[in-house]
Amino acid sequence: MPRPGRVDEGEEIHTHIVSVWREADRRIAIGGREGMLFVTDKHLMFVQKTEAKLRWWQATVQRQSLKLLKSKDPIMHHDGYGRDDLVRDLENKKNDEIPLSKILKASHEEKSWGSVLYLTYEHKGKTEKRRFSVVLDWVKYPAKDPSRYMKIDWEPVVSFIRERQAASSPSGSRVAAYAVGVGPGAPEYLTQAASDAIRGCDVVVGYDGALRTIDSILGGKDVRRVTMADQEGTYQDLATGQSGLKVAVVFTGDVNFSESEVVDRLGEVFGSLTVIPGISSVQVAAAKSRIPLDRCRVISMHITSSIERKKLELKKALLDGQSVILVPRPWPKRPELEFMPGDVAAYLKDGGLPTASMRVRVYEDLTLAGERVFEGSVDELEGKEFSGHLIMAFDQHEPDSYMNHKWQWG
Ligand SMILES: C[S@@+](CC[C@H](N)C(=O)[O-])C[C@H]1O[C@@H](n2cnc3c(N)ncnc32)[C@H](O)[C@@H]1O
Repeated sequence: MPRPGRVDEGEEIHTHIVSVWREADRRIAIGGREGMLFVTDKHLMFVQKTEAKLRWWQATVQRQSLKLLKSKDPIMHHDGYGRDDLVRDLENKKNDEIPLSKILKASHEEKSWGSVLYLTYEHKGKTEKRRFSVVLDWVKYPAKDPSRYMKIDWEPVVSFIRERQAASSPSGSRVAAYAVGVGPGAPEYLTQAASDAIRGCDVVVGYDGALRTIDSILGGKDVRRVTMADQEGTYQDLATGQSGLKVAVVFTGDVNFSESEVVDRLGEVFGSLTVIPGISSVQVAAAKSRIPLDRCRVISMHITSSIERKKLELKKALLDGQSVILVPRPWPKRPELEFMPGDVAAYLKDGGLPTASMRVRVYEDLTLAGERVFEGSVDELEGKEFSGHLIMAFDQHEPDSYMNHKWQWG
């Protein structure tokens, strides 16, 4: 007996991908299935038996392959197949329909041969682990089997599933994520608010330096030490964790300074994010060099994208007589991309600045036991060795107290 299609009134197809191979996510998977993958705002559907005509199917697969060879974007719709066709196909009980709320894990991986979407979901009372890939070519005999796969960017599909799950859960998000600034290193600079947020979380994630700062409050926590290169898997894993899980991702200094590449990604992965500010190393450098933050340029070169515009900004600010607090760019594996004190000095000298008379301070390991400061001319930086953990301060501040503004005392 056919079952009624369960596409709700107003439910929209977000993407419809044909020529998809689904198999069990095991080391050796036997008996995969070819079908169409749909993601709507409420469900994931896998249609392996369709009422659509063979000619439509062949033309659509060909068009899709051409499109995906040009762009890896997986969000698409196909002319000639719409919501009514999907409702009709879902009457066949060989086709699966899984509410997005039943998806427990979603992630993806690039392989040398193609791109894989991994999904774990509850279906018919069981937990199923499946992997999905888009097929370019098939061998047709003795049984239909993929022979060549396509490269496709599954990320928009995974993000969409997470966003929909977060939007439809009662608390707005199944997993609560916090980005917490833990200060520049010494425990005295860890705020009470940051400490409370971390203590209230089940899992604490961070790079080595940030975790070291809060070592004394990590007892009993599930701690995930990550690096720039491997953090993505951890966030993806936690974002699809059990409902009610609280995750703190900790950052040195302030979360809102020079951390946006990671913080922006956390927003995408977790759907929503609570940010707890911290005391930045920049504030400590400002305090030590007595440079008012509102009267100087604060520049971070600690970014992955090009810093050419920021270099110009630095030169211009110094030429204009402004003070500058600068976070340089350590990049030991790509020395040609580093912009450390010696490189800064050479750049400013080449730019015609009076580097012999221009004063600079370099603060290393601020607030930590081995804190050091170099004070001298910019010229002296060339050829001098520093660690990667430093802040530079160019002080051109002219004191301007309220005594200069008596006229407006009234
Ligand atoms: C990605 S930025 C993060 C900055 C951090 N969010 C903050 O507010 O301090 C990392 C860089 O900040 C600088 N830095 C952070 N903590 C420092 C400290 N205690 N002493 C000196 N420099 C520090 C170093 O240049 C380091 O490579």
